[in-house]
Amino acid sequence: MLQVLFLLYLSVATAVAKDAVEVLQFDNFGYSGAYSQVSKLSDIYKDSCSCELDSNKVTFSGPNTPLNEEVSVHFRGPLILDKFASYVSDGFKLGDDNSGNWNRLSYYEASSGTSENITFLTRAGKNSSCLGLGLTYASDNGTGAAESATVLAENSLINSNDEFVIFSNISCGKSGLNNDCGVYRSDIPAYHGFYGTTKMFLFEFKMPNETKTSPEISNYNMPAIWLLNAQIPRTAQYSLNVNCSCWRSGCGEFDIFEVMNTTEYLNLYSTIHDYQGSEYIETGIAIDSYIERDLTGTMVGGVVFDSNGDATVWVSNSTSFDSTVSGSDVNQWVNKDTSAATKTLSSASLNVATTTGGSSKKGDGVAYKPSALLNLLAAILVYFI
Ligand SMILES: *[C@@H]1O[C@H](CO)[C@@H](O)[C@H](O)[C@H]1NC(C)=O
Ligand SMILES: *[C@@H]1O[C@H](CO)[C@@H](O)[C@H](O)[C@H]1NC(C)=O
Ligand SMILES: *[C@@H]1O[C@H](CO)[C@@H](O)[C@H](O)[C@H]1NC(C)=O
Ligand SMILES: *[C@@H]1O[C@H](CO)[C@@H](O)[C@H](O)[C@H]1NC(C)=O
Ligand SMILES: *[C@@H]1O[C@H](CO)[C@@H](O)[C@H](O)[C@H]1NC(C)=O
Ligand SMILES: *[C@@H]1O[C@H](CO)[C@@H](O)[C@H](O)[C@H]1NC(C)=O
Ligand SMILES: *[C@@H]1O[C@H](CO)[C@@H](O)[C@H](O)[C@H]1NC(C)=O
Ligand SMILES: *[C@@H]1O[C@H](CO)[C@@H](O)[C@H](O)[C@H]1NC(C)=O
Repeated sequence: MLQVLFLLYLSVATAVAKDAVEVLQFDNFGYSGAYSQVSKLSDIYKDSCSCELDSNKVTFSGPNTPLNEEVSVHFRGPLILDKFASYVSDGFKLGDDNSGNWNRLSYYEASSGTSENITFLTRAGKNSSCLGLGLTYASDNGTGAAESATVLAENSLINSNDEFVIFSNISCGKSGLNNDCGVYRSDIPAYHGFYGTTKMFLFEFKMPNETKTSPEISNYNMPAIWLLNAQIPRTAQYSLNVNCSCWRSGCGEFDIFEVMNTTEYLNLYSTIHDYQGSEYIETGIAIDSYIERDLTGTMVGGVVFDSNGDATVWVSNSTSFDSTVSGSDVNQWVNKDTSAATKTLSSASLNVATTTGGSSKKGDGVAYKPSALLNLLAAILVYFI
């Protein structure tokens, strides 16, 4: 009983605490669940455009699931990307300096024009009534269309609601349910995402205040950096048809640094969207504390997924983008002694079949937002299960 009361207290405490911190940590990320893959995209440029999901679900379990699968890395303006790197490690465990080190597999550095194992794509392709805009190679400003892979130019500012995506430079094999990238939209440059259960992404970026676009546009002054299961953008990131992507059924989204609304335009939140301990995939599970958006300076930080299922987001100017990084360096960057907020996820799978709503919550078709109180009740309930 004491234990239960303590957990109750904890869940209440995390629901009300709201502070600016430098480290946001989800513990126990990963659960036993399942999602549905897209099996068919039909008539994509006709009014009869439709999508089907495979009736055999993909099951998963273990640390960091389902984002142990390949992910793509997404950026929304106002934002300038200076550096990006992706890493994998054999056995890194948060807080253990002697566990695995990190190897860099992809690297972008704007100032030198370096781009290793990186493909910049953007949604500048043809519009389909059920899939939305198709991906193309991005031109050097991040949002125009290019004929072939092009390196993002230094100081490219993308505006509110504009996006680009980073994939690896490894092309997908043929589209097909049992092939390496699953079913994907036939007219896009399709690339593999970033694999690994134990992986890390580093970013150096600016999120300047919006001055160019009008407040009427969607996501005005709401920059973000986030990860999606790489299957999502290869079929449809912003479809209103749930059968056009695996997002609704819970193949995974991890928001690393995200402004949620213009009222709190200086607060960067971190949110997981799947069915781990939450049946509300649109809202997801967020940490109530936030990282401060620096409107004038350069921000440096990242997200690390360790082999125990601890997913940690941080900002720290000591972050370095070297080709190998020691486990002890990462432990220093995410040091929680100064200011941190941690949320321990429940292992409960709360996937209830849904047939309405969109294929990614960042689209304009947000369908459902439960109240904070409902969330709290759900969190308490979960502790009892
Ligand atoms: C992918 O990137 C790596 C590292 O920069 C490079 O060695 C390789 O040639 C690239 N492959 C393709 C197909 O561009
Ligand atoms: C794409 O098509 C959809 C549905 O036909 C439409 O609602 C949307 O406005 C179009 N988007 C653009 C950018 O043209
Ligand atoms: C980006 O480049 C494209 C051409 O590739 C151009 O049409 C577009 O206007 C540019 N966007 C900005 C914001 O400069
Ligand atoms: C490029 O990145 C992909 C995904 O992380 C990885 O599988 C591949 O080994 C990398 N290639 C090189 C040359 O490092
Ligand atoms: C940032 O821009 C918003 C308008 O989007 C404005 O209300 C706010 O005052 C600006 N903040 C600063 C610090 O300039
Ligand atoms: C999605 O597929 C299910 C069958 O798997 C079907 O019942 C439903 O109507 C479809 N939804 C849409 C929007 O096409
Ligand atoms: C803005 O987002 C934060 C974080 O999700 C939330 O707590 C706050 O209530 C939101 N404010 C408004 C006005 O929507
Ligand atoms: C981190 O360094 C950048 C310059 O690289 C600076 O703009 C920023 O203000 C620094 N942030 C902190 C928290 O010291």
